[in-house]
Amino acid sequence: VTDTSETKIPKVPTLPDAQTVISVKHWTDRLFSFRCTRPASLRFRSGEFVMIGLMGDPDPKTGKQKPLLRAYSIASPSWDEELEFYSIKVQDGPLTSKLQHIKAGDEIILRPKPVGTLVHDALLPGKRIWFFATGTGFAPFASLLREPQTYEDYDEVIITHTCRTCGELEYGAEIIESLKTDELLNEVIGDGFWKKIKYYPTTTREESPKMGRITDLMRSGEAFEDLGVAPICPDNDRAMICGNLAFNLELKDMLEEFGLKEGANSDPQTYVVEKAFLD
Ligand code: A2P
Repeated sequence: VTDTSETKIPKVPTLPDAQTVISVKHWTDRLFSFRCTRPASLRFRSGEFVMIGLMGDPDPKTGKQKPLLRAYSIASPSWDEELEFYSIKVQDGPLTSKLQHIKAGDEIILRPKPVGTLVHDALLPGKRIWFFATGTGFAPFASLLREPQTYEDYDEVIITHTCRTCGELEYGAEIIESLKTDELLNEVIGDGFWKKIKYYPTTTREESPKMGRITDLMRSGEAFEDLGVAPICPDNDRAMICGNLAFNLELKDMLEEFGLKEGANSDPQTYVVEKAFLD
């Protein structure tokens, strides 16, 4: 009898740019997150995105399969040995209708070319940084909130997350909670670094302690009052936006009214924006 427990056969990647899924967590019937292996050569800046996906169905005529790829923000920080992604499940979405069924041990395709504007390099130095997210737009901030540079560069970090329901806030809430016991951040930034963080979750379609769209709550001044902070000013404040298109556009206009200016990697300014990618 051969004991195979000690002789694990390494899995040979069968897909181009294949990575192996390590764990999957379903948050609601619309949202899930997963972790996968990280290619040894992949370097990225916290906040960037990559193209990931699966092989598509065979072409009915030729039988050939093509990769089905979408842009996904990397939700894990740049120092993490694994990669994490946070995704919506669209029942008839070409990719996420399949991706939502992945399990530990499965393979996904990951093109190792990170890009994006939600990076510290695209902002001028400031005192306070705002992360504005709706829905799965929380993903790049899940990376940046676990990135030591965020706390080295700013005295205060304010994260707002607007979702339809309470369940949709949970992934973000768990990330925020995990920061308190994050060994690396506590060691590098110092005990209690997480006290620099102000977390402002709101819901729009289910009762919760704070209801309303962040845009409306800022316009009325309620958000600044609740947070106990001064309104946004271009001298001190920097901002990153990631959510659905209507939200991005509305918030962009608001930030411009506060005197902030959109930046890019090649031209750092006082805010940056990226859309949450939907299937
Ligand atoms: P609402 O329920 O009022 O539409 P979605 O899941 O559709 O991407 O939306 C995520 C969250 O973003 C929802 O709470 C939604 O609120 C909110 N939202 C949608 N459009 C805007 C906008 N223009 N400004 C602020 N929040 C928005």
